[in-house]
Amino acid sequence: MPAEIVLGVGGGIAAYKACELLRLFTESGHRVRVVPTASALRFVGAPTWAALSGRPVADDVWSDVHEVPHVRLGQHADLVVVAPATADLLAKAAHGLADDLLTNTLLTARCPVLLAPAMHTEMWEHPATVANVATLRSRGVRVIEPAVGRLTGRDTGKGRLPDPAEIFAVARRALARGVEAEADLAGRHVVVTAGGTREPLDPVRFLGNRSSGKQGYAFARAAVARGARVTLVAANVALPDPAGVDLVRVGTTEELRDATLAAAAGADAVVMAAAPADFRPASYASGKIKKSDDGVAPAIELVTNPDIAVELGRRRRPGQVLVIFAAETDDAEANGRAKLARKGADMIVVNEVGVDKVFGADTNAATVISADGAVHRLPEQPKEALADAVWDLVRQRLPSRS
Ligand SMILES: Cc1cc2nc3c(=O)[nH]c(=O)nc-3n(C[C@H](O)[C@H](O)[C@H](O)COP(=O)(O)O)c2cc1C
Repeated sequence: MPAEIVLGVGGGIAAYKACELLRLFTESGHRVRVVPTASALRFVGAPTWAALSGRPVADDVWSDVHEVPHVRLGQHADLVVVAPATADLLAKAAHGLADDLLTNTLLTARCPVLLAPAMHTEMWEHPATVANVATLRSRGVRVIEPAVGRLTGRDTGKGRLPDPAEIFAVARRALARGVEAEADLAGRHVVVTAGGTREPLDPVRFLGNRSSGKQGYAFARAAVARGARVTLVAANVALPDPAGVDLVRVGTTEELRDATLAAAAGADAVVMAAAPADFRPASYASGKIKKSDDGVAPAIELVTNPDIAVELGRRRRPGQVLVIFAAETDDAEANGRAKLARKGADMIVVNEVGVDKVFGADTNAATVISADGAVHRLPEQPKEALADAVWDLVRQRLPSRS
């Protein structure tokens, strides 16, 4: 359903990315009123916002006063998104200042509010900003964690504005489900693995699998939207980084194991959606393996990789929920049930897979089998909806917090 969205833009270098976010909203049929700050207008001018949104643009409370925009915009919005939210805007919002149209709108809005901060790492980590973010979150404002990457100058670090498409994905969920209603994983730390590991044979070849990472990324996105702190361990995934996750990139099964065990040590739940290679070449050739003149193919000796699910099960801290996956080409449910029993997890998500089934697709169907014997059949649906259904089951198993 078309919504009335206020897109606030702060005076950060990433202001230009808000143009793309605006496009995503308008192309989805939403009506968007852009409210830049005076500083934002030094980065991207009012004509750009007016032309792209088809609506008037003002940064102060003194334009069109007869319409009382400083109150009306917030009151009539279905969603307020601020991207980028500067350190200055976070401070003003946390303290209830209202010296321009955007800060007035933030005080009058009663709809979901999403803030996507972007700033240098030092500003993001400053105790003042940390406290402001905590205050805003405690009031139900959804503050999306910035991404790690290139900042304004040559430096890199945490503080980059997430990809506009990822902010759009969070906003779309907030519109569909409400921000507070779905903050049921707030205060929880979850670890999600995604993608497929690759085991190098030589500098140019590897043994790998067809996992795209889409299902794991959907788990991560859904958990962020539900308020969790998410560590996403991604093996060879070529998708945009989901907004608000701590992303750890790995290549091989051993790297996946190390990163996952380290992250899982303090986690409330671990969802092992990645497809680790079960075997790896026994040796690695430092130069490219050559084709021999006699046409005889080299034999590749394989050794077994560590079983990450078993290790996670053994080291599980009390109350931690462990979800594993089984990709089966036949007898999916029976094989899944046997695997769950072997590995000591709480739940197994069983997918029936084939070359053009599940891998790389945007939808998925699965059967979730729990250690207590409960079976949930999840019909074909978008991968993020399937992730939500599994998170619902995980949440039921999480010990309540004292
Ligand atoms: C080139 C340049 C880039 C800036 N980038 C950021 C930024 O990414 N994040 C931030 O918090 N402040 C940034 N600033 C500082 C803000 O512009 C400054 O704090 C301003 O007062 C913010 O105003 P606003 O919050 O009303 O938009 C930048 C300043 C300049 C000159």
